[in-house]
Amino acid sequence: MTTLLINGESHEIEAEDDMPLLWAIRDVIGYTGTKFGCGMGLCGACSIHLDGQVTRSCITPVSAAEGKAITTIEGLGSEQSLHPVQQAWIDQEVSQCGYCQSGQIMAAAALLAENPNPSDEEIRAKMVNYCRCGTYQQIFAAVKRAAQHEGGQS
Ligand code: FES
Ligand code: FES
Repeated sequence: MTTLLINGESHEIEAEDDMPLLWAIRDVIGYTGTKFGCGMGLCGACSIHLDGQVTRSCITPVSAAEGKAITTIEGLGSEQSLHPVQQAWIDQEVSQCGYCQSGQIMAAAALLAENPNPSDEEIRAKMVNYCRCGTYQQIFAAVKRAAQHEGGQS
């Protein structure tokens, strides 16, 4: 038995220690906002937060997540109170097909939590998730927008 704390709720699941955390999140527990892309830690579609650190859940075993706080896109904000990054994504109309976007938003939220006012270079260095639709310019603009909101600038 493995106990995972996801979005503030505790879940007990039957899982081998080496089951990818992504499998547990999506297939066992049912939070499907986190996506499977490459399965090799490359694309970032499966990004979640583990104790606040952006983490690729496809290459993280469930055993490494026990006792840590897991946040998925479903737990970042709520419909009543969106996370500033989610609001910036809507305002900037970032999404195309949307497949990569939850991972992108989780990466941006972790970046801004660590560094509320990143430089352009820091954004480019940290926002490395792939987007097959090529929304990179809008993603960059949305991160800037969320940073201005977070930093209280106009
Ligand atoms: S699915 Fe995890 S990095 Fe691509
Ligand atoms: S919006 Fe389609 S893959 Fe990024």
